[in-house]
Amino acid sequence: MYKEKVNRVVLVGTGAVGCSFAYSMINQGVAEELVLIDVNEAKAEGEAMDLNHGVPFAPSPIKVWNGSYQDCESADLIVITAGLAQKPGETRLDLVEKNTKIFKDIIKNIMQSGFDGIFLVATNPVDILTYVTWKESGLPKERVIGSGTVLDSARLRFSLGKYFDVDPRNVHAVIIGEHGDTELPVWSHATIGSEQVDTVLEGKNDLKKECLEDIFVNVRDAAYHIIQRKGATYYGIGMSLVRITKAILNNENSILSVSAYLNGEYGQNDVYIGVPAVINRSGIREIIEIKLNEKEQEQFNHSVDVLKETMKPVL
Ligand code: 2OP
Repeated sequence: MYKEKVNRVVLVGTGAVGCSFAYSMINQGVAEELVLIDVNEAKAEGEAMDLNHGVPFAPSPIKVWNGSYQDCESADLIVITAGLAQKPGETRLDLVEKNTKIFKDIIKNIMQSGFDGIFLVATNPVDILTYVTWKESGLPKERVIGSGTVLDSARLRFSLGKYFDVDPRNVHAVIIGEHGDTELPVWSHATIGSEQVDTVLEGKNDLKKECLEDIFVNVRDAAYHIIQRKGATYYGIGMSLVRITKAILNNENSILSVSAYLNGEYGQNDVYIGVPAVINRSGIREIIEIKLNEKEQEQFNHSVDVLKETMKPVL
């Protein structure tokens, strides 16, 4: 019988982040198969049932079921959102020990299936857990990707769009570094349309440069503000994961600030951290090395140091 090649995505972790990803993915018609895995099997089953009831309204057919690690063998992409999430007052880095333990187990189970596709990691601290996934899986670094600062960059674009009163899709601004407290905006390369942000500000007397710093601080701390109000963040990250998934499965060569393994880029080695990279069907095609100014490079180096220091006890 003729068997069509279908895209299979496996989601490990059906908490709020995983389910927001699944829901958004179904609504955007991204893949033909979606497998849900969770330690709480009943939860994964319930989510699959609920999502399936929306399939008649999806833009394209998709099979959704609660599966097992055996389903990973023929997966094109495995998205991991499993693990503990930040509670009010906790930083992302506070989660490192517990989530590393959980990850080692998950990766072992996945690799035993014979999986040979691409990993996309979202669990925090995402840069460190992406490194753990790369180490434990033995897959090439190009095929292990973290959600990195894709969400932070989206938050920045949204906020700048609001400030300048333009469509955020016309704002090109990127946040790099740790997905967390030491991240930094690359103002030296931020543009609105094709104009440098600084130039746009000069032309508008009522808009002020100091506001940009406030905008960034709000973006950096956005997760804290949301967690304080509703206990967790999930829609933004869910849609960010779909954006990366589309770039991979549709072989888009899109440039996204994911967590990627540095091997000399930005003067750094042996670390996963948020940097712009070209994403396609083979994973990370290449890392884009933006020419940072001195202050930006210093901040980036500090971010690397913090990640490496936090990683030490768990590796
Ligand atoms: C976020 O930035 C908590 O990492 C999560 O929304």
